[in-house]
Amino acid sequence: MRILVTGGAGFIGSEFVRATLRDSPGTRVTVLDKLTYSGNLENLDPVAGHPGLRFVQGDTADPLVADEVVAGQDVIVHFAAETHVDRSIVSATGFVLSNVLGTQTLLEAALRHGVGRFVHVSTDEVYGSISEGSWTEETPLAPNVPYAASKAGSDLLALAFHRTLGLDVVITRCTNNYGHYQFPEKVIPLFVTNLLEGRRVPLYGDGGNRRDWLHVSDHCRAIRMVLDRGRAGEVYHIGGGSELSNLELTARLLEACGAGWDQVEHVPDRPGHDLRYSLDISKIERELGYAPSVDFETGLAATVAWYRDNRSWWEPLKHRELAVAAH
Ligand SMILES: NC(=O)c1ccc[n+]([C@@H]2O[C@H](COP(=O)([O-])OP(=O)(O)OC[C@H]3O[C@@H](n4cnc5c(N)ncnc54)[C@H](O)[C@@H]3O)[C@@H](O)[C@H]2O)c1
Repeated sequence: MRILVTGGAGFIGSEFVRATLRDSPGTRVTVLDKLTYSGNLENLDPVAGHPGLRFVQGDTADPLVADEVVAGQDVIVHFAAETHVDRSIVSATGFVLSNVLGTQTLLEAALRHGVGRFVHVSTDEVYGSISEGSWTEETPLAPNVPYAASKAGSDLLALAFHRTLGLDVVITRCTNNYGHYQFPEKVIPLFVTNLLEGRRVPLYGDGGNRRDWLHVSDHCRAIRMVLDRGRAGEVYHIGGGSELSNLELTARLLEACGAGWDQVEHVPDRPGHDLRYSLDISKIERELGYAPSVDFETGLAATVAWYRDNRSWWEPLKHRELAVAAH
């Protein structure tokens, strides 16, 4: 099988590439990645030189690039996106270009080249916020922040390409991922790396916002199930079964890093901060036999150990970001 993986130098995409080359011998993987601030070729070091891997640096929104990389592919797994909510609040332009225009450009190329399946990787954030209960795949989209709105736009385009143009599209929507190789701006690697450096961690508002945590390896395993056996035109939820408030998460991270509450700095809440996300994952359990396998305690301990042992991976990224922020 020939797979195009967009965003394959990012956090989740690189896990998917490493797992695919490890678990599916004979598969040929082409990675298309723009190498934005969060894309990092070092994420592919464990598979560098693998005969099944080809890397192309380029933008999903560029039709010439899309044509070149999509030609000859059997399937596409589309991760590439601008992903950080805080950045989308400062400026949404790059989010619309990459997430909406980039997805549409790839969908058109997939149609032109007769690609057999297009898996569009999306997020629970497209539904907005839910105080009780869980969203199903039928819940209407109601995004609040620009990042989520751009992902919702790309989801609707992907479904339209299925319904109107007959492209084999499947959408996954997942909860918050954590694990190794996550850029140190997202809450878990930000807090862990700050604590490892003896710095304070910024906790938004009262810490009451609730998220479900999914280990990146479980996420990629579920995407593989959807790629292989999901039904065309369907949406599948993927969750981790570990709902925590940010306050509870902070307590776990402090404990894992041997730090106390004096390391926590309370900062004003993010504008439009969704209170709670919760996905009903019974459809993927029932249809594809998915269940999360990494329990949060074990996954978090392994993640903290990875950041402790791989300072040479995150220190340059973090100090580059801090230098940019200082200007
Ligand atoms: N991280 C999470 O918790 C989470 C949760 C739900 C859904 N998702 C979705 O999963 C996908 C991957 O997220 P991630 O956390 O790995 O993000 P990431 O920011 O770590 O990686 C994104 C990758 O996409 C690349 N990219 C961005 N714009 C591009 C473009 N125009 N053309 C080509 N490459 C481009 C970047 O260089 C980077 O390598 C995204 O679609 C995101 O919306 C992530």
